[in-house]
Amino acid sequence: MPGRLAVAREGKVLFYMPDPSSARAGGRLEPAWLPVFYNPRMELNRDLSVAALQVYIDYYASRKPVNVVEPLSATGVRALRYALEVEGVGRVYCGDVDYEAYRIIVANIGLNSAWHSVEASWGDANALMYSIKFRRVPVLVVDVDPFGPPTPFIEAALNLIGDGGLLMVTATDTAVLEGSKASKALRRYQARVARIPQSREMALRVLIGYIARVAAGMDKWVEPLISLYMDYYVRLYMLVRRGSKGARKTVESLLGPLYYCEDFKYASLRENDVRGYCSKVTHMGPLWTGDLFNEEFLEKVIASVEGPFNYLGTGRTLLKTLKTAREEAKLQGHVYQRLDSIASTLKTETPRREWAIETLRSRGFKAAPTHLAPTGLRTDAPLRDLLGLFPGGLKASGALSAS
Ligand SMILES: C[S@@+](CC[C@H](N)C(=O)[O-])C[C@H]1O[C@@H](n2cnc3c(N)ncnc32)[C@H](O)[C@@H]1O
Repeated sequence: MPGRLAVAREGKVLFYMPDPSSARAGGRLEPAWLPVFYNPRMELNRDLSVAALQVYIDYYASRKPVNVVEPLSATGVRALRYALEVEGVGRVYCGDVDYEAYRIIVANIGLNSAWHSVEASWGDANALMYSIKFRRVPVLVVDVDPFGPPTPFIEAALNLIGDGGLLMVTATDTAVLEGSKASKALRRYQARVARIPQSREMALRVLIGYIARVAAGMDKWVEPLISLYMDYYVRLYMLVRRGSKGARKTVESLLGPLYYCEDFKYASLRENDVRGYCSKVTHMGPLWTGDLFNEEFLEKVIASVEGPFNYLGTGRTLLKTLKTAREEAKLQGHVYQRLDSIASTLKTETPRREWAIETLRSRGFKAAPTHLAPTGLRTDAPLRDLLGLFPGGLKASGALSAS
């Protein structure tokens, strides 16, 4: 075992983790310094995943029990939580490339007497996924939860998941996805990106776009259910379906550019929205231009966090994010705009988001906050009407459209 161990609890699971006192920096736990990774800040991610998996099994899974694979498991806490907290789960196959992690997973399976429901392996995540496929184990759910980019594991995960299955993915390489490392993004995700006020939405769409392209190559297609940017990572839940028609539709109509208007720091998935008002338009992508949320799924997850999963440690924060997502889902075809960024281009003050939303609604438009930025909103109001919220905004839009 990797030195001294501590015992912690998350959800309904008791588990060993490396003694956190060895990895403190300024009073804070540095998970990457632990001999085996455990990040308490990811409890939110795991809580949401427990609730989302339950909703998937109850309403969307084509057969039960549902086998789950979590191939980058560290302490195994996530795999154990799926096995112990979610009804309808068959077997959970988990593993880690790190031998010390594997030994902790085994100890944690013992601590929870979960030998019948959790199987641990020591080895590479892709090797584990392909070997499960080779054994002909039917798998509907894969959770790819790496530290860094998920790209090395997407192909094996999509290959393993059966028709109508669920793919859950975490990405922590947000600097790349958000455009701070554009050259790396081009190599890793084959997408052109730059740092813009809408970078968090771009990150979600670039990652979904990448996964959708890999899926299309296998005659599979994806349907995002929940797409969130939380804390410092991206987290996606998506259905995976088989079929050449859906794969073709993805490539032909659900992947495209994001148009970014530098004059007003405004972004849109439609070129017409920027035409006439912007002197300098940059194209980002290709990225996912389809939906980010499935409203019905989101509603059911909210109900389950308020209902049977009301014991979750991060329930309150989770509900706040999910309820904001529920509002923005109604306007998900409209990229969010940031009031502070527009205000800076007009050299004026940032209006309060609540005021801006109410004002747009009173003018006959739809508007909703986004979970992606505290000053961000989604609206169907054209750029001109958005600028009309700011002193001098209309004049600025008129000047540009005339030039
Ligand atoms: C972020 S941690 C996983 C956290 C865990 N899923 C949780 O919820 O607590 C990533 C883990 O992936 C493992 N890992 C890295 N590369 C791997 C690979 N190619 N195959 C399997 N495991 C790998 C690391 O050893 C590390 O324990």
